[in-house]
Amino acid sequence: MNEAIRPGQGTQAVVTPELSVVVPTFNERDNVIALFRKLESALAGRAWEVIYVDDNSPDGTWDVVRTLAREDSRVRCIRRIGRRGLSGACIEGILASSAPCAAVIDADLQHDETQLPKMLALLQGGEADLVVGSRYVEGGSADSFDKQRAGFSMLATQVSKKLLRVEIADPMSGFFMIRRDRFEQLAPQLSTQGFKILLDIVATARGSLRIKEIPYTFGSRQHGESKLDSMVALDFLGLVLAKLTGDVVSLRFLLFAMVGSLGLLVHLVALFIALELFNVPFPEAQACGALLAMTSNFLLNNFLTYRDQRLKGLGILRGLLLFYLVCSVGLVANVGVAFSVYDQEPIWWLAGAAGALMGVVWNYAMSGLFVWRKR
Ligand code: GDD
Ligand code: MN
Repeated sequence: MNEAIRPGQGTQAVVTPELSVVVPTFNERDNVIALFRKLESALAGRAWEVIYVDDNSPDGTWDVVRTLAREDSRVRCIRRIGRRGLSGACIEGILASSAPCAAVIDADLQHDETQLPKMLALLQGGEADLVVGSRYVEGGSADSFDKQRAGFSMLATQVSKKLLRVEIADPMSGFFMIRRDRFEQLAPQLSTQGFKILLDIVATARGSLRIKEIPYTFGSRQHGESKLDSMVALDFLGLVLAKLTGDVVSLRFLLFAMVGSLGLLVHLVALFIALELFNVPFPEAQACGALLAMTSNFLLNNFLTYRDQRLKGLGILRGLLLFYLVCSVGLVANVGVAFSVYDQEPIWWLAGAAGALMGVVWNYAMSGLFVWRKR
């Protein structure tokens, strides 16, 4: 064997990091280097690494991180293509590390990196499995939030406490540190969709994690903008429902079903307008309603349910046509099931509900296979 490539020879002893810092990024090119410098001074004297998980940001964040990584081997970049989502990015980043402890921190300097050594000490001292940077314990604050956002954050926190029995003060926090072995146990049950990874971790663990919260002040963003939009509220609702049903139904299915119910409303309104205002004959009016409902369902699913695999450009048209096809067959299945139930048990609502359930399950399964196929 060539001397130069014989393992263990001539290679410097590499220190395995005690801490991996995972940073999800989307359009943060002006923040990633500043964050790295801050981590460098906060974690001076520690063996640490940072893993940026970038969803192929249009502003080229991943490229900036790559340049940084060429200068410093503590930096790594995972560039995900064709996928979006904060939770999924964090999960992949944590699983990509081998350090015993992993932290998640936002790239935009709103979280307080100077708390990291304290958090690490708590995990290493064996006092906790999870340490949460909390805005809502004594000494913490979220002053940079506007009134509306502060209200939503509080409401979501209350709902999580009541419904999911999550006992911590700030389950919506995006700043925490966890023992990787504990995370690895929970990971298969976590949802890769949505924003609320900490809430998901705590709810999934069902009290099996020893949690400590430490206060920090949520700062304000210097560069770029927040990616949280109004869809986040629906994401949150979906996560709560999924956890309440013990993960029997996935968050995606729940979102799909929610969109479907909205579609029924669209259908009825369109039917009413066509019949009453435009005097369209019933069969045509019904067809109009169905077409409109399918179209709006498709668009909403593309924006919400499958936001992480959103179809774009011509893909939208192709997807829409396929979606029509899938739903038409779903309708036949729906009516078929309803008929056979009604045949055995002439209870109209039971037959109707069975048909509708069949329809939504069919549409969901087939859309996942054909319309929003994972690449
Ligand atoms: N990879 C990836 N993919 N990263 C993302 C995505 C995505 O789809 N969406 C957002 N990010 C990254 C951002 O680039 C940023 O580094 C971090 O996730 C947080 O996103 P922001 O858009 O800045 O969220 P925020 O400041 O409004 O809210 C944050 O702080 C809250 C309080 O701790 C989030 O962490 C919330 O979850 C948290 O509740
Ligand atoms: Mn932010």
